[in-house]
Order: sequence, then structure tokens, then C-alpha cells
Amino acid sequence: MSYENLLIEKENGTAVVTINRPKALNALNEATVRELDKMIDEIEADQDVAVLIITGSGQKSFVAGADIVEMKDKNAMEGRDWGILAQGVFNKLENMKKPVIAAVNGYALGGGNELQMACDIRIAADNAKFGQPEVTLGITPGFGGTQRLPRLVSKGMAKKLLFTGAMIDAAEAYRIGLVDELVPADHLMAAAKKMAVKIQSVAPLAVQLCKSAVNRGINMDLQSGIQYEDEVWGLCFSTNDQKEGMQAFVEKRKAEFSGK
Ligand code: CAA
Repeated sequence: MSYENLLIEKENGTAVVTINRPKALNALNEATVRELDKMIDEIEADQDVAVLIITGSGQKSFVAGADIVEMKDKNAMEGRDWGILAQGVFNKLENMKKPVIAAVNGYALGGGNELQMACDIRIAADNAKFGQPEVTLGITPGFGGTQRLPRLVSKGMAKKLLFTGAMIDAAEAYRIGLVDELVPADHLMAAAKKMAVKIQSVAPLAVQLCKSAVNRGINMDLQSGIQYEDEVWGLCFSTNDQKEGMQAFVEKRKAEFSGK
């Protein structure tokens, strides 16, 4: 498939997707969001890809938000449709079967922070910057920010970031749990790929089911979540990977998982 605003590299089971609109600091216009949608289908269907990494082109920006130039003259219905389109794509990304790592290489603002929050695991370069500056533009976040942010950091911290529009640095983002790993900028892709390799070394179906249990469980009350865990845990025992994983342990050898 061909893309105008995305670069896709696939190597050793990992796909690296780079959002590539450097002149606009990789801001998300509608065409790019539609390409992300297409890319998700492509990666999900590609049997040679086990893990997806999303990053931004250049040294300066992951994604500097939704494209303000494209968005500024929208009316209420157009604005709402734009939000619904992007939210749908971010929901789809969050619920991909395959694990998704955000490698945040610079500004992750507005829709950029919302994009990285829709990924499973976030690794930030130490020069990355985060924020939800929408209030400085007279709007609220519209790609899931008001909902995912308080689910990742404290409610008060989310409101602090949302109400002030302030930018925070990567160390602060790590401290408050907005990102999960902090690395020197020149090690970012190596760290993301290393994590992808590590994830590929374990049982793929178990990873997929962990993802489903966390994503679905977090929106349930505790007892319903625990019950859902029972279901996925039980399901694991129907897989070859469970037989292989436990047999390998008993035989003191490395497991060879088939993802079946
Ligand atoms: N949309 C469109 N273009 C953008 C953009 C955006 N979100 N962010 C940066 N650009 C463009 C700039 O207009 C500029 O283009 P020109 O060279 O043609 O003038 C180019 O990228 C470089 O940007 P700057 O000159 O501003 O670079 P800087 O280093 O001085 O500042 C920055 C960098 C602090 C990130 C600044 O560009 C900035 O504040 N960008 C906007 C960030 C923002 O408000 N994002 C939220 C958008 S709204 C949103 O995302 C809503 C939502 O919930 C989905």
C-alpha cells in the first residue's frame, strides 16, 4: 500500500511507522488520520509483523497536534465529525490485537499526546515535550485526551495539564506516569526495537489476551474485570503456546512459541 504522510519499515517482525509531515511538525491532518486507519488494517493483517512502533519524523516532533491550519475554519458539525473520525482511528489503534509502542521523539502536543496515549506502551526521548494546549486555542481536546489522560495520570494532574495547556518535559511526563520509559534521544529507536524484540520472544496469544484483559478490564468494575481475567486465563489453556511454555519450563529449555 502507498502512503503520502506515513513511512513504513518492516524488519524482523516489527513495523516502524513514522508520521512524516516534517514541515508541520508532523501535525495530523485528515489525510494522515485516514492513512493511520489504513495502516492499522495493513499491519493487523500482516502475518510477518508482530509489534508496531509509532514515531514521528525528524528530531524535533513526534506529533505537534491536530493540524490547526486545516481545522481553523471548521464549523460545529465539521469539528465534531473530525473528532469522531480521529477518535475512531485512535480507538482502533488502542484495540489492535498486536502490541503498539509509541516512540516519542519530540513534541507530543494535543492530538500528538492523544495518539501516544492510545498506544500500549510509551517510550520517550529525554528531549520530548508533552501537553494538551487545546485551551490556548479555545477548544477542548477532541481525540480522547479528556478521557485517556486521567486514566493514565491522576485526575488532578490531568486537570492541571488540561486547564493550563502547559507543556511538561519528558522527565516530568515519566514522573507522573504519562510515559513508561525515558531514554536518551539517540537511543530512542534502539530502546523501542529492543522492547519489540522482547515482546516477540514471549507467547503472542498470551500477550494479546493480556492486552484485551487490561483494555477491557479497566473500563469494568473490579469484580467484572477479575471475572474477565478468569475467561482469558482459561482460554490460555486451550493454546499450544501454553503447552509448549510449560513443557519447556519442565524440560529446562527455551520455549518455541507458535502463536497458536
Ligand atoms: N498544526 C499545523 N501546523 C503546525 C502545527 C499544528 N498543530 N504545529 C506546528 N505547525 C507548523 C507551524 O505552523 C510552522 O509552519 P510554518 O513553518 O509554515 O510557519 C511549522 O510547523 C514549525 O512550527 P513553529 O515555527 O511554530 O516551530 P517552533 O519550534 O517555534 O514551535 C511548537 C514548536 C511549540 C510545537 C509550536 O509549533 C506549536 O505550538 N504548535 C502547535 C501545538 C498545538 O497547539 N497543538 C494542539 C493542536 S489542537 C489539537 O491537537 C486538538 C486535539 O485534541 C486533536
